[in-house]
Amino acid sequence: MSIKYYAKISGTGMYVPDKILTNFDLEKIVDTTDEWIRTRTGMSERHLAADDQAASNLAYEATKKAIKAANIRAKDIDMIIVATVTGDHPFPSVACILQQKLGIKGFPAFDVSAGCTGWIYAVNIAKQYIENGVADNILVIGVEILTKITNWKDRGTCILFGDGAGATIISRAKERDISRFIDSELSADGSHYDLLIQTAGGSRMPATKESVEENLHTVYMEGNKIFKNAVRSMYHACDVVLKRNNLDVHSIDWLITHQANMRIIQALGKKMKIDEKKVIVNIEKYGNTSSATIPMALDEAIRSGKIHHGDIVLMASFGAGLTSGSLLIRM
Ligand code: UT7
Repeated sequence: MSIKYYAKISGTGMYVPDKILTNFDLEKIVDTTDEWIRTRTGMSERHLAADDQAASNLAYEATKKAIKAANIRAKDIDMIIVATVTGDHPFPSVACILQQKLGIKGFPAFDVSAGCTGWIYAVNIAKQYIENGVADNILVIGVEILTKITNWKDRGTCILFGDGAGATIISRAKERDISRFIDSELSADGSHYDLLIQTAGGSRMPATKESVEENLHTVYMEGNKIFKNAVRSMYHACDVVLKRNNLDVHSIDWLITHQANMRIIQALGKKMKIDEKKVIVNIEKYGNTSSATIPMALDEAIRSGKIHHGDIVLMASFGAGLTSGSLLIRM
């Protein structure tokens, strides 16, 4: 496709709920220890949504900050794409509920389901609508409330997840602007769809008393198998965009990967031979917030003054599907 315009990230924002669940709190819920969780995952605490908070509430708070950072008004947004697997309802989309909260309408709004790679998928879609001139400012959000579909009896999964939202405004770059998307790569391997799944609640297995009693509405994951696939698929997604653009790891100022496990992040960094000071990590404070981890880490790194205008940022993720993908951006 010939590119008419370039797309860039013009603003970011994030939100996490107030309530914090520490590893020590988890010790009281399942047979685990702070030491096990920290050494096996890198996590110390995570944030939990309140009973009256759904995905659109978190998304709305993050959006307000992103709109401000992009220096636009809500009415300048001409598309909303929300990456989530824990929307307010099976339908309608969080994107449409968010339109109502923002008091705007009359343009496309939809959700994308690609697990933890969801935000990368959604940005890739937004990028193309900007590049072909159809839209000027697209609100792209990664938001997840996984703690409401967590099996609190399964120590292999319940220690991992936190809630949060990361919002980004993807805008048309001005001609002389150096900020722009350079490239991206998406993939999926559906042959492993059952390794990470919410089994019940869809058309395959509608909700019944038994499905609730058997915890089939919560996250089922074969963590070990996902772990091995994660490093391999993120490495591939990064390698493809670097090679395609005649770049190597030394050209990268920052690497932001999906924050699922510190050992996965370290293994990827080692395989890529990237300086560990360039790898942005915030897993300790938030745990795995699925599609929200990368936009949240990006927002924190921008606001803390780590990432500057013009920096080259490589992002990579993997997740349910199994999906994977990368984004290469000049900020
Ligand atoms: O967001 C994208 C998708 N998800 C992921 O990225 C998750 C990827 N996978 C992982 O992060 C890791 O596989 C986990 C953190 C989930 C598990 O770590 P692991 O090193 O793969 O542990 P394991 O499942 O191989 O279990 C090792 C041992 C087992 O005990 P035995 O059989 O060796 O006696 C588990 O029962 O650790 C035990 N174990 C625990 N012990 C204390 C599992 N969970 C816990 C726990 N506390 N919370």
